[in-house]
Amino acid sequence: MKRTNLPIHVGIIMDGNGRWARKRGLPRIEGHREGAKVTERIVVAAKEMGIKYLSLYAFSTENWRRPKEEVEFLFNLMYEYVKEKLQLFLENDVKFRAMGRLWELPDYLQEGFKLIEEKTAHCRSMTAVFAVNYGGKQEIIDAVNRAVADGIKEFDESTIRKYLYIPELPDLDLLIRTSGELRISNFLLWQSAYTELWFTETLWPDFTVDEFRVALEDFSRRERRFGGIK
Ligand code: IPE
Ligand code: IPE
Ligand code: MG
Repeated sequence: MKRTNLPIHVGIIMDGNGRWARKRGLPRIEGHREGAKVTERIVVAAKEMGIKYLSLYAFSTENWRRPKEEVEFLFNLMYEYVKEKLQLFLENDVKFRAMGRLWELPDYLQEGFKLIEEKTAHCRSMTAVFAVNYGGKQEIIDAVNRAVADGIKEFDESTIRKYLYIPELPDLDLLIRTSGELRISNFLLWQSAYTELWFTETLWPDFTVDEFRVALEDFSRRERRFGGIK
């Protein structure tokens, strides 16, 4: 793959954990557990391929509609993940960032995120952004409210961007969604205005580094025009 055609920022809607488990007669949480292992492999692979920002949709602002037990399991799993994977992030020089309405999350999880963010703050090879209690609409609403609180009365693109959760996060080049659903589900709305979309039927726990490579190769062949002409 030509390095020039490599996306800078890749986003993944990691969907299909529940269906993966159901197919095997397992409880949904087993799908989440398996999915977390795939996340780990993709973070390392993305870094090795030279991706600069990898945004992973882990929990949406709408996922609170799920049974309390599943929501709690997911938060616990994320906490275990950041504790166990700190070393992996450091070894791979990957900076961890959490993004979303983090203040609404349980304290232990907020602290877990803060710790791994601090410990990996110096890492430079790639930034892995975990979108947790994240909604694209909510991000824009929160940005506008914070700007207004700062006394800003007029907005342009750069004002909005400055108040997004992670202002330095560039626009999304490629969005991958697993599990066959053809929708955005409130992920990175501001950043995805000109994103290339790539969908696969594969359920997230079955997603592989090879398939990730296929998505990147497909991206490298696309002609992006951004409204202009060739
Ligand atoms: C994605 O898998 C993980 C989260 C949304 C947290 P799902 O749990 O949505 O799996 P399906 O879509 O029910 O198969
Ligand atoms: C999107 O998946 C959110 C995450 C992967 C975290 P959902 O399973 O929540 O999306 P919908 O409800 O099918 O749109
Ligand atoms: Mg789903």
